[in-house]
Amino acid sequence: MTEHVDPVAPRPRTVQGLLAREHALLRRHLRQLRYIAETMMKEQPLALRDRLDAVLSFLHDDTLPHMEMEETIIYAAVDRLPNGPHSGQAMALDHQAIRALVHEVDRLTSAQTSKKTAAKLQGALFALEAVTRLHIDKEERLYTPLLNQLSPRVRAAIRAELRERS
Ligand SMILES: [Fe+2]
Ligand SMILES: [Fe+2]
Repeated sequence: MTEHVDPVAPRPRTVQGLLAREHALLRRHLRQLRYIAETMMKEQPLALRDRLDAVLSFLHDDTLPHMEMEETIIYAAVDRLPNGPHSGQAMALDHQAIRALVHEVDRLTSAQTSKKTAAKLQGALFALEAVTRLHIDKEERLYTPLLNQLSPRVRAAIRAELRERS
């Protein structure tokens, strides 16, 4: 799986291609999130805020809808295949943990700045990055390889959802 996303490259046509593109963009933001967490204690508050806002916008506008679509379409459809991983519930629990961490980061970024809040925010950023990275690695091992076994109707529904956002 490549992590390189060329903004002027033609949009992928397959479900796998579209999902790979979304994960590649997410990984790029996760690297940024980790960088923010590592450097935030010596960063100027306004610069930190700008960097965090960019990542949080991506998480809210792209990652949360991406997870919603996986829970409503992909996991169930892949789990119905005879060789499906039957891990949809566990994957949805990962999503729940990711959502909770996004909301925790939202809360801490709008809280009064203090050393204690900054330390909590740093912890939440590291946790969010690690949990999300592990989750998409898992998804690509368990679910992505089976997407081409889905019926054309289901794949068309997934493509339509993914294209709406890209
Ligand atoms: Fe997911
Ligand atoms: Fe995903």
